[in-house]
Amino acid sequence: MYLTKEQERMLSGEEGEVVERMFRLLVRLGDIYGADRMIPIGSAQVAGVSYKSIGDPGLEFLEDIAAKGARVRVPTTLNPPGMDLVDWRELGFPEDFAQKQLRIMEAFRKMGIMMTATCTPYLVGNLPRFREHIAWSESSAVSFANSVIGARTNREGGPSALAAAICGLTPNYGLHLDENRKPSYLIEVKVELKSTADFGALGYHVGKIVRDKIPYFRGIKEADVDQLKALGAAMAASGAVALYHVEGITPEAWMMETGKLEKIEVGEQDIREAYGKLNTGSDPDIVILGCPHASLKEIATLAGRLEGKKLKKPLWICTSRATKDAATRMGLTGTIEAAGGRVVADTCTVVSPIERMGYRTIGVDSGKAANYLPGFCKQQVVFKSLDELVEELAA
Ligand code: F3S
Repeated sequence: MYLTKEQERMLSGEEGEVVERMFRLLVRLGDIYGADRMIPIGSAQVAGVSYKSIGDPGLEFLEDIAAKGARVRVPTTLNPPGMDLVDWRELGFPEDFAQKQLRIMEAFRKMGIMMTATCTPYLVGNLPRFREHIAWSESSAVSFANSVIGARTNREGGPSALAAAICGLTPNYGLHLDENRKPSYLIEVKVELKSTADFGALGYHVGKIVRDKIPYFRGIKEADVDQLKALGAAMAASGAVALYHVEGITPEAWMMETGKLEKIEVGEQDIREAYGKLNTGSDPDIVILGCPHASLKEIATLAGRLEGKKLKKPLWICTSRATKDAATRMGLTGTIEAAGGRVVADTCTVVSPIERMGYRTIGVDSGKAANYLPGFCKQQVVFKSLDELVEELAA
């Protein structure tokens, strides 16, 4: 791989031990995937933030490099940690877990990383532009950035995104190149998608079929940003889809040739079967919404449904701290809390120690959460639309 003089200096340790280690990781990745050179990135987004995911080895590594002077060179945001960073005690997060989680956050803070703590960074200030090269690692955010915005990122791991943040560079391969952004499958959608959960069910179904390839959807007449984030998140979870195109909706779709693609039809029966596979339980102990993290519009929708009602069981909606603050100023948090629900900031169900908090069955409207909760959190799942979940819970 071609390296500039400055990059040679990074590799030889002239910019310190941490930069050398991080840059070496990027060079190794570039060599494996046949990159011709390094490219500058506009931003990074780092996953592997929850103590549940990275444990003591991850915590020690982060504290070590932070103490040795690791600093990011580009705007960098963080994925959700394993708890609400303010209300964790009141919400019942375990003390031992919380102390480790707070140390992780402090290590990231020392590196100059923005403390946004969300899987929807594009809603709260980390918004790349069309064709901008970035290094993001949260799979749903990678899918959104590539597909809905038309920015360019591979599906980075936590370490490679952090290395890219510290070096300001990423190897030029994969989805950074025009030729690798072409679809492999034409997905003919023959069913009307009525709710965000329907988009999650479609994503779950298609991700299982196309795995890490790029699908091109035809037949989706309308989709808002929340539905697109649900679709991409589910495909990234059931498969490893990092980019999709939707005819007439996503920005690169019009450039794509579809004539020779393998065709797959998705009908009502497929969506019904996806719901069937994702529903592993009944009668949830708690409903948790906001996977990916809820937008202000989704919080407003929930508040509208809960106005004047009382919930029979706990309900959380997870979001970023910035979105929660805006929701609170709008009176939405108050409406949700008056009904007995909570707007939980920073964290998400899957990366939180929910299985240690006494819950066994969770109601969700997210195809991604429904896919991961049984394995990651040993939970049974009730997967339904927001309206159905709220109707069952609210009197
Ligand atoms: Fe976000 Fe957690 Fe879902 S990171 S996409 S809320 S699994």
